[in-house]
Amino acid sequence: MDTSKPVDPRDLFSAKDLVIVITGGGSGIGLAFAAALARSSARKIYLLGRRLQNLQEAATSINSSVITPVQCDVTSPASISAAVKQVEQEVGYIDVLINNAGVEGPKHTDIYKAATISELQAIMLKDPEGWDTAYRTNTTAVNTVSASFLALLDAGNARRGWVQGKRTHQTRAEGADYDASDERTSQIITVTSISSFNRTVTAGLAYTASKAGATMLAKSMANFLAPWGIRSNVIAPGRFPSEMTAGAATEFPVDQVPAGKPGVYGDMAGTILYLVGKAGAYVNGNAGHDISWWLVAESLLNSVKQDFECVLQA
Ligand SMILES: *[C@@H]1O[C@H](CO)[C@@H](O)[C@H](O)[C@H]1NC(C)=O
Ligand SMILES: *[C@@H]1O[C@H](CO)[C@@H](O)[C@H](O)[C@H]1NC(C)=O
Ligand SMILES: *[C@@H]1O[C@H](CO)[C@@H](O)[C@H](O)[C@H]1NC(C)=O
Repeated sequence: MDTSKPVDPRDLFSAKDLVIVITGGGSGIGLAFAAALARSSARKIYLLGRRLQNLQEAATSINSSVITPVQCDVTSPASISAAVKQVEQEVGYIDVLINNAGVEGPKHTDIYKAATISELQAIMLKDPEGWDTAYRTNTTAVNTVSASFLALLDAGNARRGWVQGKRTHQTRAEGADYDASDERTSQIITVTSISSFNRTVTAGLAYTASKAGATMLAKSMANFLAPWGIRSNVIAPGRFPSEMTAGAATEFPVDQVPAGKPGVYGDMAGTILYLVGKAGAYVNGNAGHDISWWLVAESLLNSVKQDFECVLQA
């Protein structure tokens, strides 16, 4: 490593010139990503969500020359295809896909209050349709949306001079014009939850299971997409304010949440700028080195670390 080179944080932690797609970007964490990325020079950000008005408000409040709202239902293949087509026609490639869309599922926290077997059964069996809805958005869509954007992610690699398609070594295409200081390849980032690592039923059984499913799916993607030059990483947030957790606690005992409070905008902004920036170029889920997981700001650090061999950012 040549340590005599200058280090410029604005170059390392920047979204400069990136084209990014965010699902569920109209509120909460997705909106925080959109704001942070748009304000650090992303070229274009497509916000995909069901509620067009929400997306339009997000675009206007941040910067509508950078943010393009696209009405899209991530559980509908036709709707996803239409979004892909739009991005393809307007730009022709993407650098980063952020799978962030989520819906609430059935709550099961009263499971600890059950006094009889039949009460326990009733709690576990309630709202079976809610499980399907939760899985369709929170887990299945991670696969559908990622698959649908693969060709545009591959095109994103081409514009950086990388060879396209399947490869045995990460090399630049012959005669390609590229920035040698930029080693990034295209990337999928999936937002799951710290609950995917927690045996306590913090919200719902479907919540824990669908988030663990999404985490594992993203981990598999890092593995099988490696020969295609596409990275896959996971952000597993702890407590962050969002529409869904509005009215939630603002203080926690430090043995549960070491920071003692929910995360703030800067935590998410810093994390996403690291991951999409040149600083994060080497970060890839399960594809051959250790930095697999980003757990932001919750939980018993040591137990998570021992159980899951995580790299933590608290
Ligand atoms: C919005 O984005 C454009 C294009 O990057 C930029 O030129 C402009 O200054 C931005 N506007 C604001 C208010 O940040
Ligand atoms: C789905 O994901 C969203 C966003 O992370 C989350 O708030 C919601 O509770 C999740 N629902 C289930 C059932 O997992
Ligand atoms: C799991 O969640 C519970 C309830 O929020 C919390 O007390 C506990 O610290 C969490 N454990 C881990 C390992 O994250």
